Amino acid sequence: MKIAIIGGGSLGLLFSYYLSEKHEVHLYTRTQQQADLINTHGLHRIKLGDKRTTHNVYAAPLHDWQGTVDMAIIAVKQYQLPEIIPMLTAKAVGSLLFLQNGYGHIKLLKDLTVLPIFVGSVEHGAVRSNGNTVIHNGVGVTRAALYKGSENLLRELSASLASDFPLIHEDDYESMLIKKLVVNSVINPLTAILNVKNGDLIKNPYYKGIFVNLFDECAQVLELHNKEDYFENLLNVCKKTAENYSSMYKDLENGRKTEIDAILGYLLEEAARKNIKAPLIHNYYDCIKGKEHEREGA
Ligand code: PAF
Repeated sequence: MKIAIIGGGSLGLLFSYYLSEKHEVHLYTRTQQQADLINTHGLHRIKLGDKRTTHNVYAAPLHDWQGTVDMAIIAVKQYQLPEIIPMLTAKAVGSLLFLQNGYGHIKLLKDLTVLPIFVGSVEHGAVRSNGNTVIHNGVGVTRAALYKGSENLLRELSASLASDFPLIHEDDYESMLIKKLVVNSVINPLTAILNVKNGDLIKNPYYKGIFVNLFDECAQVLELHNKEDYFENLLNVCKKTAENYSSMYKDLENGRKTEIDAILGYLLEEAARKNIKAPLIHNYYDCIKGKEHEREGA
C-alpha cells in the first residue's frame, strides 16, 4: 500500500518506522528541516534492550502534500485537525485513519466525504528523542475500527503488520475510543499535575485514592455500564506503561499545548449536557489549563 503518515511527532515517527517494513511510506512533517534530516540520515528506532535500527523513509513538509495515497494516517494532536483536515482532503486520498486521543475529534469527521474513514487508539509508549529518532519504550498494540465506509483496507493493513507492531481490528469504534478516553482522562492529567510516571499513580496509596475517585467520576459522566471492565483496562495500561511519562506530562514539560480539551474538556461537555456534577474533572481540567496559562504568561 502507499501510505502517508501525517505528523512527525512520536507517533508519526513510530508508525513510519514500522509500516515502512511492508509499505511505501511517505512521512509529512511540519518543517522542511525535519524532512531533510529524515531524508539524509534515515529514521532511527531505539527499543529497550535492542540496538538502534534505521529505516529509509521518504519525508516531505506538509505544504508539499500530494494526496494520491491508499491511506493517510493522521498522527497529529486533536487541536491541529481543523487546520489539517481541509488541506488533506483537498487532494485525492483513498482512506483516512485518525489516531487522536480523546473523543472530541469525532464531530469533525461527520461531514467528510472521503471514504472509508477509520479511527484508532494507540497503546504504545513512544518518545521522540529528536527529529529522526523515536524511542519505543512501551510495546503495546494499536486498535482501529471503521467509522464509515468499507473495512477492507483496514483488514489488509492489519494482516500486513508483523507481531511486534500489531493492529487489532475492533468492531465498535465508539466503545474502543471511550475505553481509551477513560485511560487518558485519569492517567494524563494526574501524572502531569503530580509530576510522576504512570506507574506511580497506583504504587503510591495516596495517589491511588485520587486515581480511583477520578475514574468513578468519569464513569458516572460517561454512564459506563460495565464499569469494572473499564477499571481493569485502566489498571492494565497503567501497569504496562508504569515506566512511561504520559503524553500530557511530556507536553507540559516541553512547553507544548496539551490535549486537555479533547479529553477532560469533552467530559465536561458531556457532564453539562447530562446535567451531572463533575467537580474533580472540573478541577483537573482547570489545573492543566492553569499550567498552560502560566507558561503563556512567562
Ligand atoms: O497519552 C498517553 O501518554 C498514552 O495514551 C497512555 C496510554 C496514557 C500511556 O502513557
